[in-house]
Amino acid sequence: MCGIVGYIGHREAYPIVIKGLKRLEYRGYDSAGVMVYDGTSVKLSKTKGKVSDLEAKAKEITTTGTIGIGHTRWATHGVPNDVNSHPHVSNSGDLVIIHNGIIENYEPLKKELIKRGYKFHSDTDTEVLVNLIEEVQKKENLKLGKAVQVALNQVVGAYAICVFDKKKPDEIVAARLGSPLAIGVGKDEFFVASDASPFIEYTSNAIYLEDEEMAVVRLNKPLKIRKIKDDSLVDPYVQELQMNLEQIEKGGYDHFMLKEIYEQPSVIKDTYRGRLHANEGLIQMAGVEDNLEKFLNADRILIVACGTSWHAGLVAEYIFEEFTRIPVEVEYASEFRYRNPIINPGDVVIPISQSGETADTLAAIKLAKEKGAFVFGVCNVVGSSISRETHAGAYTHAGPEIGVASTKAFTTQITVLTMIALRLAKAKGTLSNSDFHRYLQELEIIPEKVQEALETNDVTKTIAAKFKDSTNCLYLGRGYNFPVALEGALKLKEISYIHAEGYPAAEMKHGPIALIDEHMPVIVIAPKQGHYDKVVSNIQEIKSRSGKIIAVVTKGDTQVRELADYVIEIPDTSDALSPLLTTIPLQLLSYHIAVMRGCNVDQPRNLAKSVTVE
Ligand code: AGP
Ligand code: GLU
Repeated sequence: MCGIVGYIGHREAYPIVIKGLKRLEYRGYDSAGVMVYDGTSVKLSKTKGKVSDLEAKAKEITTTGTIGIGHTRWATHGVPNDVNSHPHVSNSGDLVIIHNGIIENYEPLKKELIKRGYKFHSDTDTEVLVNLIEEVQKKENLKLGKAVQVALNQVVGAYAICVFDKKKPDEIVAARLGSPLAIGVGKDEFFVASDASPFIEYTSNAIYLEDEEMAVVRLNKPLKIRKIKDDSLVDPYVQELQMNLEQIEKGGYDHFMLKEIYEQPSVIKDTYRGRLHANEGLIQMAGVEDNLEKFLNADRILIVACGTSWHAGLVAEYIFEEFTRIPVEVEYASEFRYRNPIINPGDVVIPISQSGETADTLAAIKLAKEKGAFVFGVCNVVGSSISRETHAGAYTHAGPEIGVASTKAFTTQITVLTMIALRLAKAKGTLSNSDFHRYLQELEIIPEKVQEALETNDVTKTIAAKFKDSTNCLYLGRGYNFPVALEGALKLKEISYIHAEGYPAAEMKHGPIALIDEHMPVIVIAPKQGHYDKVVSNIQEIKSRSGKIIAVVTKGDTQVRELADYVIEIPDTSDALSPLLTTIPLQLLSYHIAVMRGCNVDQPRNLAKSVTVE
């Protein structure tokens, strides 16, 4: 995720680009950069930090000119620093690019370009792309648009790009696959941006490029949109936008949380992109490969985290022990750091953190390192304190999570942890080949199943209306879905302020069942997989005490339907991957209840997005 802005027209480009970047900062904000063409030369400034830092730095260059591009970064390859910031320039200095996305095959492309004499100054995948375009352009003597098209047909990954060629400074080439790109069509001016927020005040006429489409944006020429694959022309569909600025930033959703819930299919795909190769039966994660022996020889794995990340760790405990037979312990980072824990050099410690700045998790890492453990982080923010403190790690590619209640971070954390467990199981031979391949295939289609689970939104909203005035709520799950029960309860607590508790379903009879009466809604996670029959028995225990039962079931379930007051059906999947689906209706349920209660969904009372204090 990041923000890109391009302008070509009759106005000064710089102020439009800078203001546009500020409106896109919610999409990514670890570094920023701008390029303007003043009629004779390219002026470029870029820096680690926010757009306001860029403005300060850009005072060093002249920023006049009516064509410009800018970028606010959410790093995936290369830590946030000045050199890795965008725009990136080709070796000749002629081509300038900004990019949102991930070039999966950048390493082999980079190796080939180095062989051909190209030099690289950054650690980014994007710098490889701009030099690939240059190589194609030079070798085949092509105009920029054609060179971009040929180069993109050699690329695997996701991109929304703007490319500028100093040799032909009257156009911007834009292209997209997997990352959004909108073209604002004004009177004698064009805007290119990640969404319409940078140009909505200038024009409400927008063309949203579809995947695998590109456009050569040139003044006084009709806008041509082509298919990247075969250069065929596409009729541009210009739509008149009705959204205001705030709605655009939220992608048309009422809250960032809802937008992020709906981003889960695409960000799970982004997270396994380049790592999960189901057809080849491969999991490729550089950080894991480089430290494989440490994992395989681990006496045990210790997972430390807080909140939702701790719940992801609990899911990982079940997955790691089931797949790899390596003992796993999961601890609250805040408890771990103060109880003088026993940590041995043969231990592997996995801290999980969306923000990468949680103080307790950071302190737990330092303690583990002091005691000689190998620390492998799972984090969502490149260059964050936790990602820099760990010995190695693997990033989730969830993009910025703005809503305080964590949603897409949870599912992408589970995605990363599942891939690590599968890789280790393959190396240890603790999963049969057929099971290994089956899990890879199933994980690959999880985004489509998450999309299907999101279609429970309406039924979930109806159920929310019935329980929005509850004062207490119980969430029950077994096995892999016990942590999901905890996570569902946390979601409800933190955004609707209803007291909720998650419990292992079987634990009910050890006390909590005393709470059950006709006023107590009980959400039971009861997918067909796992300990289904046992969960059905638990439902019967609740029903016999007049509890109100909302059950999350596998599509087509008839048995629980007979017992529950409400059912929410989700697609079938394997037991180990079911948390990626069962959590979806629970996220939606808490969201709708909070909205109906008039709560501040994105910024709930008393909470902060990242708890950087003890
Ligand atoms: C989850 O919805 C909460 N916002 C909170 O529990 C969060 O998961 C916790 O503070 C950990 O944050 P981190 O993942 O950034 O370390
Ligand atoms: N993969 C590119 C980088 O890490 C682009 C990331 C983004 O979308 O901001 O620089």
